[in-house]
Amino acid sequence: MKWIVLGFVGLLLIGCQQDPSLNKNVDESKIDQNVDELLAKMTLEEKIGQMNQYSGFMDFTGPQPNQGRAAKKLEHIKQGLVGSMLNVHGVENVRAVQKLAVEESRLGIPLIFGFDVIHGYKSVSPIPLAEAASWDLKAIKRSAEIAAEEASASGINWTFAPMVDISRDARWGRVMEGAGEDPFLGSEIAKARIKGFQGDDLSATNTVAATAKHFAAYGFAEAGRDYNTVDIGTSTLYNVVFPPFRAAVDADVKSFMTAFNVLNGIPATGDEFLLRDILKEKWDFGGFVVTDWDSAGEMVAHGFVKDGRAAAKQAVIAGSDMDMESYHYIEELKTLVEAGEVDMKLIDDSVRRILKVKYELGLFEDPYKYCSETREQETVNQPKFKAELRDMAKKSIVLLKNEKDVLPLNSSGQKIAVIGALANDKTSPLGSWRLAAEPGTAVSVLEGLAKFDQNTYTYAKGADVILGKASFTKELQINTSDTSDFAEAISVAKSADVVVMVLGEHGLQSGEARSRTRLDLPGVQQQLLEEVYKVNPNIVLVLQNGRPLAITWADEHIPAIVEAWQLGTESGNAIAEVLYGLYNPSAKLPMTFPRHVGQVPIYYNHKSTGRPYLPSPGEVFWSHYSDENNSPLYPFGYGLSYTSFSFKDLQIENTYADNNTVSVSVTVRNTGKRSGKATAQLYIHDEYASVTRPVKELKSFEQVELQAGESREITFQLTDEDLGFYTNTGEFVVEEGIFRVFVGEDSQAELTETFEL
Ligand code: NOJ
Repeated sequence: MKWIVLGFVGLLLIGCQQDPSLNKNVDESKIDQNVDELLAKMTLEEKIGQMNQYSGFMDFTGPQPNQGRAAKKLEHIKQGLVGSMLNVHGVENVRAVQKLAVEESRLGIPLIFGFDVIHGYKSVSPIPLAEAASWDLKAIKRSAEIAAEEASASGINWTFAPMVDISRDARWGRVMEGAGEDPFLGSEIAKARIKGFQGDDLSATNTVAATAKHFAAYGFAEAGRDYNTVDIGTSTLYNVVFPPFRAAVDADVKSFMTAFNVLNGIPATGDEFLLRDILKEKWDFGGFVVTDWDSAGEMVAHGFVKDGRAAAKQAVIAGSDMDMESYHYIEELKTLVEAGEVDMKLIDDSVRRILKVKYELGLFEDPYKYCSETREQETVNQPKFKAELRDMAKKSIVLLKNEKDVLPLNSSGQKIAVIGALANDKTSPLGSWRLAAEPGTAVSVLEGLAKFDQNTYTYAKGADVILGKASFTKELQINTSDTSDFAEAISVAKSADVVVMVLGEHGLQSGEARSRTRLDLPGVQQQLLEEVYKVNPNIVLVLQNGRPLAITWADEHIPAIVEAWQLGTESGNAIAEVLYGLYNPSAKLPMTFPRHVGQVPIYYNHKSTGRPYLPSPGEVFWSHYSDENNSPLYPFGYGLSYTSFSFKDLQIENTYADNNTVSVSVTVRNTGKRSGKATAQLYIHDEYASVTRPVKELKSFEQVELQAGESREITFQLTDEDLGFYTNTGEFVVEEGIFRVFVGEDSQAELTETFEL
């Protein structure tokens, strides 16, 4: 038995400190008093009304309800039977609906308006997975601030973001919406985004309440199929899934959303362990929990409860405070309470939590505070955000390969062939969650390149990625056979100095309900790439996609590969500036790129297994595949620059016995010919523990701008929070033993030293 340095109580002390800068203008006791006074005036129906959320009359982001129920929405608002609306946006609409609640319902309690502001509102920022690649927490926070400013000017006061689900499965379409595979990076980004959305003052008109979603483990859907079953062990739950949610609570996030999935046999929306024991009790979360769309009702299909009535009962008992679009709360809760099947105390607790956030937003002082037409006009879709969106987009681009210095492109005298339907697409770069944005408002790659007009460009589509019009709610039709435009592409490639091929996934090919079994270039694009390569191998492949792709052939053949995701409104401008070297790429992959889909789930922080190494050449009994390497195509944390960096002089000062701290320093040097930004990444490996630890775990990182030839010493401090882990019963412990530290440019960093606790 090992010596446990820090027990559970110690952990509570580490974890429970909320940022004191948050909500500085809030008088908590006054709000509590207001809530209690209002609660005392409310009937049971009105209380249940606060727990009821309907989707509006504009966008549907889930299966549509039957008409009979939908028709009652307006009446219900007037009767005080609705606490929140989603999918109502624009000042005119929000004002009209708010008016019904405030002026026509008995108590005039204002509605809270939620919307999926996932990566921007009308001015669209890069998809969250792309932003995560920047590893730039300031920029990510700023991007969330911009989204909050724009959405709040359009009547919204609550966003269903950030999605903080860790995922290791690129087949799952929603990886585009998260921060990737790592719990440490994911937690840092969760905090940055929540602070960006909520600001220091939730009652300000340019901030919105945020939502940590989807609690919990939605990113572990079996086989990457959306909405599918999740069955994971407690070690993964506590050490991988929970940390970003926990970080969200520490950042004072105002709401949580439940997940659609079952977790170890229990639907998350009805899971008392998740919502009560962990979230509300252990973590002391003070905000409210909203279900995902009809996820209370879906407990019937899961085979967990008999009917809608039992679903409402279980969801409330478990701790789901507000019901999104299942209708079961509004239809069943009253009689459940009257029959003594649901305790009134639970209803009061839920309503208290919801009203509290409404007070904090300042909705009781002025229900129309987000409804200024002038502010909407001055703010929404305004050019003032463009420079910052472009900055975020440039910081999100990952240089995956650059042989023979194909990049940056020469800025004059070049004949450049631009090939690929995505190069000329002004909608796809807006990505998946772009509910409010106008189609066709992104800068295309062709438009971005055209600004560098000392070169000549010839464009050929080559092949469509999808056929027909893309729709958020309908299946896409992928072009799997039409190669009729190949000939034109081959012809323009032949006479070009350089070919820029823009290939990948359409913006709606990832996101909710967009899982894939393949991770290749969809449709006929791989074939197009190979045909063009035959006539001109001098290719820069610009990828646009919402998930890691297995582009092994391209990696073997194409000299330059740029990961440009879906970068939002300023996409084409950002890509052109990177291709021409006006911005030196600095992004690092937040998710492993596999060689083959069969390796999935593939992630850097895996366990060792008992047979990690090839015993001797040709032997078979070790953990491997017989037809593919174990290693990824591109590892987590990987990304090149137009310059190069070295990491040296790794030194450890172990003062743990004195102050529970281990200091690690390293010298980073820019060894190339131009300035650039390095991201020093620190990983640890706890070599043996009472629950096995991953082969590497990211524990810290720092970005440094260095001129050519410049060096800088960086020091990291490792504390209990970094050195410990959760046992299978959820206790946080730091155990004695040997720890190995690695510092370098990505998760394959080799510069290493050990220390002992
Ligand atoms: C379902 C999605 O899972 C969730 O993330 C989203 O916020 C809601 N629909 C509302 O649109």
